Amino acid sequence: MAQKRALITGITGQDGSYLAEFLLTKNYKVFGLTRRTSTPNYERIKHIEDKIELIPGDLLDQQSITSAVAYSKPDEIYNLAAQSFVATSWSQPVLTGEFTALGVTRVLEAVRQIKPQAKFYQASSSEMFGMVRENPQNESTPFHPRSPYGVAKVYGHWIAINYRESYNLFIVSGILFNHESPRRGLEFVTRKISHTVAKIHLKQADRIVLGNLDAKRDWGFAGDYVKAMWLMLQQDGPDDYVIATGQNHSVADFVEEAFGVIGVKNWKKYIHVSKQLFRPAEVDFLIGDSSKARKVLGWRPTVGFTQLVRMMVENDIKLLRANSK
Ligand code: NAP
Ligand code: GDD
Repeated sequence: MAQKRALITGITGQDGSYLAEFLLTKNYKVFGLTRRTSTPNYERIKHIEDKIELIPGDLLDQQSITSAVAYSKPDEIYNLAAQSFVATSWSQPVLTGEFTALGVTRVLEAVRQIKPQAKFYQASSSEMFGMVRENPQNESTPFHPRSPYGVAKVYGHWIAINYRESYNLFIVSGILFNHESPRRGLEFVTRKISHTVAKIHLKQADRIVLGNLDAKRDWGFAGDYVKAMWLMLQQDGPDDYVIATGQNHSVADFVEEAFGVIGVKNWKKYIHVSKQLFRPAEVDFLIGDSSKARKVLGWRPTVGFTQLVRMMVENDIKLLRANSK
């Protein structure tokens, strides 16, 4: 059988790096779209850089995306690139719409025109449920996004479905709940906590400044979630799937668990709550029902909450120790 070819947008991000690793283990030829930066930002893919091929391009630039599709001739396209930080979407709402919403249409247009046989994965999000209408959330739960990011993701989700229905393309949309890892960006709450707890452990910091401690998220491990993306494209037909653990915890629970890893019980004395970090509109409570994915794809998470928090804190301690040598 000919070697399969995959194009990943957002390959330098958390999910892109895990997905690239995963596809290499499946013997894919992996291409990744990367945008120009003044200094290289290949930290997450450094260890596999010689096994993948990077193609310059940007979600704002139709020509560069079309060329990337023409050059890589992919069997599968994973559209992971986005302005993915919810808080930034209020300070840069137009840019978020350009990247996270219209960017999807640009990638879909390239596929439609150049490689309509390719299978396409769209990175949809549980942020689309926003102010939730039911618990837990599944594929038919109505959307009520609460941020410019969430609104942009709803557009991306529906334009993907529209291209599937209009042009009969193999397009799937994965509605993924929060997934974390040692490679999570430092601005997201889990990594901010694990990294600062590691610093406190090493006496490099004495407090964590956080916003809303009551928000609840269904947190899983990114390595498990990229496998679900791949499984969706291996099915006979395209469909949409919720991917989640089915358990949720508050931000405070995450803090407590993280301090537990370094043996600290009285964690409250290290927390400083700043109103500045509260969001103009919050998503208070997410919990996903992934029974469809479990049944149809045979997918299930392998890393639970406690293990995830431990993995992240221990990794940050190792990282900080290595950096201070
Ligand atoms: P991430 O770490 O923030 O990575 C985002 C990627 O998009 C990076 O590679 C980034 O490149 C790239 N990118 C941003 N703007 C771009 C542009 N204009 N042109 C080309 N590339 C651009 O995000 P992630 O956590 O891996 O998430 C992957 C996708 O899944 C995103 O679409 C996100 O919204 C979605 N999602 C994530 C979660 C989650 O919990 N992680 C849950 C549901 C959905 P640079 O490295 O150059 O910035
Ligand atoms: N980032 C951050 N920083 N969040 C904080 C803080 C803080 O200091 N303090 C409290 N929070 C709360 C936020 O208000 C939010 O309710 C929760 O922690 C999680 O925030 P993030 O980790 O930034 O993630 P998110 O849930 O907003 O978005 C992530 O998950 C989505 C899927 O539901 C991102 O990965 C999105 O791209 C993704 O679509």
